[in-house]
Amino acid sequence: MRILLLGSGGREHAFAWKIAQSSALDELFIAPGNAGTRLHGKNVDINPNDFQAIKEFTLENNINMVVVGPEDPLVNGIVDFFETDEKLKNIPVIGPNAKAAQLEGSKDFAKQFMARHSIPTAKYGTFTKETLEEGYAFLGKMKAPYVLKADGLAAGKGVLILDNLTEAKKELKSMLADAKFGDASSSVVIEQFLSGIELSCFVITDGDAYKILPEAKDYKRIGEGDKGLNTGGMGAVSPVPFANPTFLDKIKNQIIIPTIKGFKQDGITYKGFVFFGIINVKNEPYVIEYNCRMGDPETEVVIPRLKSDLLDLFEGVATKTLSECDVQFDERSAATVMMVSGGYPESYEKGKQIFGINSVTDSIIFHAGTSADGPAVISNGGRVLAATSYGKNLEAALKKSYDSIGKIEFEKAAYRKDIGFDVL
Ligand code: AMP
Ligand code: GLY
Repeated sequence: MRILLLGSGGREHAFAWKIAQSSALDELFIAPGNAGTRLHGKNVDINPNDFQAIKEFTLENNINMVVVGPEDPLVNGIVDFFETDEKLKNIPVIGPNAKAAQLEGSKDFAKQFMARHSIPTAKYGTFTKETLEEGYAFLGKMKAPYVLKADGLAAGKGVLILDNLTEAKKELKSMLADAKFGDASSSVVIEQFLSGIELSCFVITDGDAYKILPEAKDYKRIGEGDKGLNTGGMGAVSPVPFANPTFLDKIKNQIIIPTIKGFKQDGITYKGFVFFGIINVKNEPYVIEYNCRMGDPETEVVIPRLKSDLLDLFEGVATKTLSECDVQFDERSAATVMMVSGGYPESYEKGKQIFGINSVTDSIIFHAGTSADGPAVISNGGRVLAATSYGKNLEAALKKSYDSIGKIEFEKAAYRKDIGFDVL
């Protein structure tokens, strides 16, 4: 098979690493990729949202399948673009169509979906500029802290959690009336605050059958002890110790099965990954959010734990034969620790040469934000590298990742030293 993979982060490097191990692979292209993905295929300088350029590349290079890493091409309708094009319609794209991707593209859509299918989630109301006064009144009836969510995609920044009512009202106005997040906040979901520990669950589905992938926990805050600003994710572990079989069964029965059934009842054709952001409230799972793609950095621990051939699963999705695929997982634990540019998630410098990657032997180094300058690897983002390791338990895996990070250097590199602290 000739595969085109879209994206440029750690998630896509982990996909590329895994796809490259498939006996079904003839050639892998990554658009645009990074200095890590070039080890597993050919990087091509195409923006994942430039559908016309993707079309030309796909046809010229006899691509048989397109795999989409990030959410925005999905929300922007890349699947629909392929399905309605005479020349592309027989080339499968792994990911949901635009309607199904609304599960991530619109918080209000996701909340209505969950309400319709009795999937446990926080109570909510949705408001627009026209209903701002009602939004204030709704806030007035809630207890602190207040959760405000921009309805649309806001690059992971659209959720605000505020401690006092005055501040919450001010932010609601700023989102609705002053377009704080542009179009994304022309509608705002106000939610009941749920208190608990979070985890991420993943499913791959062909629309009928589904396979549950290993769960993971990511560490979103920049600071140790989960303090400070939100980031794209500073590390992840899998499995998640508090997710015992009873809790995972509740997730399956109360959340995963009703979600897959809900798609069918609503006439939504969902193909690809579903990411369930779950919170454990007194041993009951609630959905915090859905994403229409894999998580990052969760992919950097989930994909290494997949023993089966990933292209075989993708073929199963494309041909609706996923039920026949045998999916095996590695019993070992996996942990990943992200090295970031100093200053991230606020302003930071790029363009730093990275040394020592090749001296790492006990971890897999997935590149998140790098570019290549000849043989040199240069930092090219806030999140730069993820050091993933296996271990007989999480402690052992984390120790290897930290030892490996100790061998890598770039100017102003930073990382959290406490990944896994709350679950060990
Ligand atoms: P999101 O951008 O949707 O992933 O949300 C960012 C983070 O906000 C989540 O990972 C949670 O930590 C937090 N969050 C979102 N919704 C709620 C809620 N209803 N109650 C408590 N925390 C929440
Ligand atoms: N790690 C969370 C996300 O990918 O959205």
